[in-house]
Amino acid sequence: MGKNTLTITDNRTGKTYEIPIAYGTYPTYGAYIKTADLRQIRVSDDDFGLMGYDPSFGNTASCRSAITFIDGERGILRYRGYPIEQLAERSTYLETAYLILYGELPTRQELDAWTAEVTHHTLIHESIKKFLDGFHHDAHPMGMLIGTVGALSTFYPEAKEIHDAATRRKQIVRLIAKTPTIAAFAYRHMRGLPYAYPDNDLSYTGNFLNMLFKTTELKYAPDPVLERALEVLFILHADHEQNCSSTAMRTIGSSHADPYSALAGAAGGLYGPLHGGANEQVLRMLQQIGSKDRVPAYIKRVKDGEVLLMGFGHRVYKNYDPRATIIKKIADQVFQVTGTNPLLDIALELERIALQEDYFITRRLYPNVDFYSGIIYQAMGFPVEMFPVLFAVPRTSGWMAQWEEMLTDPEQRISRPRQVYTGADVRDYVPMEQRGGARVA
Ligand code: SDX
Repeated sequence: MGKNTLTITDNRTGKTYEIPIAYGTYPTYGAYIKTADLRQIRVSDDDFGLMGYDPSFGNTASCRSAITFIDGERGILRYRGYPIEQLAERSTYLETAYLILYGELPTRQELDAWTAEVTHHTLIHESIKKFLDGFHHDAHPMGMLIGTVGALSTFYPEAKEIHDAATRRKQIVRLIAKTPTIAAFAYRHMRGLPYAYPDNDLSYTGNFLNMLFKTTELKYAPDPVLERALEVLFILHADHEQNCSSTAMRTIGSSHADPYSALAGAAGGLYGPLHGGANEQVLRMLQQIGSKDRVPAYIKRVKDGEVLLMGFGHRVYKNYDPRATIIKKIADQVFQVTGTNPLLDIALELERIALQEDYFITRRLYPNVDFYSGIIYQAMGFPVEMFPVLFAVPRTSGWMAQWEEMLTDPEQRISRPRQVYTGADVRDYVPMEQRGGARVA
């Protein structure tokens, strides 16, 4: 192969430029030029120079990251080099969170210390219950989570010391420990149930189930099949490189805001129906379709551009989302405990037809992580409104890892993209009496 450079000739001036090409881990997946190198390409001395234009950043690397690798063509997802299939099979959520945050699988001593640290931060300040009590009875739990996580910044003012590694780690532990508690308390508020406090004898997901579903028993005993299924679902949702909400986390964090405010913003991004809110919309879509025999009619509406097939498609995966494959397998295990979910038949029929239809094949649309997860969550007893919350809880470790990596990256500064201005040229103010007739937008 020749030199690692791009030779660009600007035909406006006949000048030629040599732009270096650089690489990440994989030369065939991550070769790049620094867009700033394009600014030297000008037609005159007062020319600003060339920018790259990339709405929604479909082909723009915002950072160099070592956390997660996705190969969308081959349906590959790895956390710190470990294939998601192996982690889902053999790891736990807290072990995976440690890996994502600190780059290596923990030793026994490291995992025990990490687990103890998180376990002993699951309680939330008693005043926070007043926030949750203040929400209306039918408030969406994602709105409660976003509002309450943001409010945590007022309880831990030292979190603004974002340059101090020990302070950052303390907030990372607090957020990973407290998001399940806030999520569970939000659920209990929705149901009009008393809050169930953390039980430090249980695993991370066992305690989450305890805080959600404990009733009058003295000690809640999580079903081991559901506990493990939640562990795997949490592992699958932990991180996904530079998605919409991780980009929000990095962008807000780049202004050196505290991590609670940044994470509230990231959760806001995740809430959207095109992102983490899709799992809730999948269930509403399946309920709206109602039966297998009405699937063809819905597919027609999709092909006519009337509706989206929620849970299908992905900006990066142009093949099957590897997480969807694993989630589909978990469904069978969960249904053995909970009984099957009739919506599964509708989902399977949707997938069967969609994977044969030219509309989906040509657009390379496959089931993504959200297509099957909601069916499992509903079978486990969660209301559909809780589904995005069940995405945000495990994604907290990914958001915090992206935040930490951004803050310690010497190449990163405050996020401030440029624009291509397409508005009016300069013009003088027009007095009201000279403006003429009504112009109602
Ligand atoms: C997540 O980025 C991540 O990594 C996200 C995530 C993570 O872990 O953080 O993986 C989690 O957000 C998964 C995605 C969940 N969202 C959904 O399931 C919502 C439905 N999906 C679509 O909205 C869409 O596929 C996106 C948003 C996921 C991706 O959108 P893109 O990359 O901008 O693709 P596009 O909208 O440009 O679509 C390309 C074409 C279009 O058709 P044409 O204009 O070319 O004719 O495909 C069509 C779209 O209309 N299309 C769909 C479709 N998704 C894309 N048509 C019907 N149903 C769909 N679901």
